[in-house]
Amino acid sequence: MADQVFKNFINGEWVDSSSGQTYENRNPADTSDLVGVFQKSNAADVKAAVDAAAEAYKKWRLVPAPKRGEILFRVADRLFKEKETFSREMTREMGKVVAETRGDVQEAIDMTFYMAGEGRRLFGMTTPSELKNKFCMTVRQPLGVCGFITPWNFPMAIPSWKTMPALICGNTVVIKPATDTPKSVVNMVRVMHEEGIPAGVVNMVTGAGSTVGQPLIEDDRVRVISFTGSTEVGRRVSETCAPKFKHSCLEMGGKNVQIVLDDADVDLAVDGALWGAFGTTGQRCTATSRLICHKNVYGEVIKKLGERASRLKVGNGLDETVQMGPCVNEDQLNTVLKYVDIGKNQDGARLITGGARLTGGAYSKGYFVSPAIFADVTPQMRIWREEIFGPVLSVGSFSTLDEAIELANDTVYGLSASIYTRDINKAYIAMRDVYTGIFYVNAPTIGAETHLPFGGTKETGNGHREAATAALDVFSEWKSIYVDFSGGLQRAQIDNQ
Ligand code: UN1
Repeated sequence: MADQVFKNFINGEWVDSSSGQTYENRNPADTSDLVGVFQKSNAADVKAAVDAAAEAYKKWRLVPAPKRGEILFRVADRLFKEKETFSREMTREMGKVVAETRGDVQEAIDMTFYMAGEGRRLFGMTTPSELKNKFCMTVRQPLGVCGFITPWNFPMAIPSWKTMPALICGNTVVIKPATDTPKSVVNMVRVMHEEGIPAGVVNMVTGAGSTVGQPLIEDDRVRVISFTGSTEVGRRVSETCAPKFKHSCLEMGGKNVQIVLDDADVDLAVDGALWGAFGTTGQRCTATSRLICHKNVYGEVIKKLGERASRLKVGNGLDETVQMGPCVNEDQLNTVLKYVDIGKNQDGARLITGGARLTGGAYSKGYFVSPAIFADVTPQMRIWREEIFGPVLSVGSFSTLDEAIELANDTVYGLSASIYTRDINKAYIAMRDVYTGIFYVNAPTIGAETHLPFGGTKETGNGHREAATAALDVFSEWKSIYVDFSGGLQRAQIDNQ
């Protein structure tokens, strides 16, 4: 039992919560499988972590960025070496199939290599002065302590999206992992510690949003909050940060659409929709939750999709032949079942397959549901408008490209969208006019790579982007520097006439 108890990581040490309380983390595919026992932390633990991060910041910000990068290169190598172990543990705690958890760990590896390389870039600019004998440049400066509230659907990738750019810029961090998936963050933090990240630079405190997340957001010394989760919680995070002008980077909901035009390769579009809607059991912010098809191909798509979805193998993600794992927990399962009921009985949409809890045999100890597809979905229906975060796909139809674009934009969210077509002109029009942060042509709505900005418009975000060099803008502030070597007073805008 003792080796299954995992502690907080504060100031370079594994420590118990001062609450003396713990909670269990169980496998959503088999609740008799205990993944580990984790600390149920409180505000005192958060304070200790922020104390450590604030102290460590004094030195870490002065470590040359290429040196910070060298440590991150070692971290990336270690994550790569432990990829299989970490992936399997992630499937046990989160449920998604092991091919996908390998992808999750790989995304953390990619992000770590990418940001390690930034250690030798972190480019600013030099630019001429309007005055003689004066030099102008910009440099990125870190902000200090950053607090992260991370989700359960990408248990290592998303914590890495926040941690690696923050560190390369010279900040220190406190991570609050999702209560359902702390083990993956323990794994990442342990590797960082063992590969030489100094004490206090990375800290981790596990526990609930109300007792860990809230004090982290409220601590005045935390200058950046990066949050990934629901729009509802994100709004509260933003409101708490606002009076202190604390920066917040918010990645929130989505109601992502895949558009299929009548010139599309229908089989390819069906492949894309299945992967986009049911990969990660539909539990991605980028998941395809709306599919709209030109009326000429609507019937064919529905038929093929229904057949293929009903054959998807649902089960324990550690079985390599399984294509869709369980929902992450009972609440999430109940949300899915609730929306299936709303779709059928309130919205009046046509359920063509799935949407039932799977029980009996190997399903009896997990939160399994069959992938659900609703046809004839229209924009006023709740299953069209509301984020479900589960394997429920709503399918509708359209007649013209203009109509498709209007339907695509008919949502409060704006994360990801895609179009399937062979007509390059139409593809470019949709690329321009669909208002999202991510857009795909002839590919599903999921599958972002770490060297492109990640994030969305409208109620998906607050204007920031994660990943790529865009992340550096979250974790650094520009300083514009003017050096006058004329030896005299020169007044800008006045002495240059
Ligand atoms: C998420 O949807 O929560 O683009 C993150 C993707 C992944 C990341 C998704 N690389 O689907």
